[in-house]
Amino acid sequence: MLEQNWREGDAGGRRYAYTCPSPDRYPYQWYWDSCFAAIAWRRFDPSRSRAELESLLSAARPDGFIGHTIFWEPLRGARSVFYNRVAPGDLMTASIQPPLLAWAWQIAVGDPREVPALARHQDWLAANRDVDGSGLIWIVQPDESGLDASPKFDAVWGWQAQGLPGFPLLVRRNRRLGYDARRVLAKGGPVVCEVVTNVLYALSQLALGRPSLTPTLVERLYDEQRGLFRDLVLPAGERPQPVTWAALAPLALPDLPETIGRRLIEEHLLDPERFWPAFPPPSVSLEEPAFTLNETHLGLRRYWRGPTWVNAAWLLWLGLSRLGYPQANELARRMATAVLGAGLREYYDSRTGAGMGARDFAWSTLVLELVEPDRPAAVG
Ligand code: GLC
Repeated sequence: MLEQNWREGDAGGRRYAYTCPSPDRYPYQWYWDSCFAAIAWRRFDPSRSRAELESLLSAARPDGFIGHTIFWEPLRGARSVFYNRVAPGDLMTASIQPPLLAWAWQIAVGDPREVPALARHQDWLAANRDVDGSGLIWIVQPDESGLDASPKFDAVWGWQAQGLPGFPLLVRRNRRLGYDARRVLAKGGPVVCEVVTNVLYALSQLALGRPSLTPTLVERLYDEQRGLFRDLVLPAGERPQPVTWAALAPLALPDLPETIGRRLIEEHLLDPERFWPAFPPPSVSLEEPAFTLNETHLGLRRYWRGPTWVNAAWLLWLGLSRLGYPQANELARRMATAVLGAGLREYYDSRTGAGMGARDFAWSTLVLELVEPDRPAAVG
């Protein structure tokens, strides 16, 4: 499937190569999908991991910015209105996606400290998206988190949330503001300091040998009373925040304090009423009224509102496994059962394991990280 989804060619004299997330639905290079695919490729052909991540890096502007989606091949027809480009001919969107590039490089290619362009990319994020000087980064649109229609954004963006009729207006406003987080905030926001985005940013920071952001993440986003992580929103206000898998995502951080990790796991992840149905982890806690396995609303697709995604399973599995929980193997077994039964689908019914969404979905190959974890990182 990875071979089938592989795209390579020449765009205006620039070589590119990447794994498209799914041939029909997602033909372009998506930032975080590409990082996940590169991690899987190292098991079969490490030169593809390198080519994939080098393509992503070669799309960078001189200041280090890399967009959410790169259009190496011309955009197909009506689709172009859905993407966050500022001008129609732009190579990439002006929005971002969770920045795990340096971390993926470390896992799949080599030492990111030897690649100045990776540091430049991380620096761009710090310079442009750390709007309050805390060290963490802020997003201006739900899809910048990769978690498009997650119910945790419902009270933040209201009727302009992703997959609702007002979303195009949010995109139009952000385009006008050049996706500049400070300008968005100055115009009244909202901007969100989102957990998954910051966990992956923090993992890249560690991969680059920079000081850990984990203490800041804990200090700013950890809710001690409930034992889980929550987004910050500016301007601040009363905003209910349904519990989603993102609240547990810091489990992927190697230096997360162990007491916090154990609480995330024992009080939330392993609770059959919350995150441990037959095919864990659901993208939203089963206890939440917003939990649903129906991904359309008013005919529009709404993602991340209940089904199980393999990248999320992997990130939480990292913590389960690091802290020595036997359920790490159980999670691997169940995820593998879903994939073997239903194929490499975009996401899975958390109760039955039935395949849902796009077919031939590249990052679902991350299931190999769970079932065959001992694979050493690629060298050089
Ligand atoms: C959906 C997902 C997003 C992913 C994209 C391509 O928009 O929500 O996370 O990157 O599809 O697979």
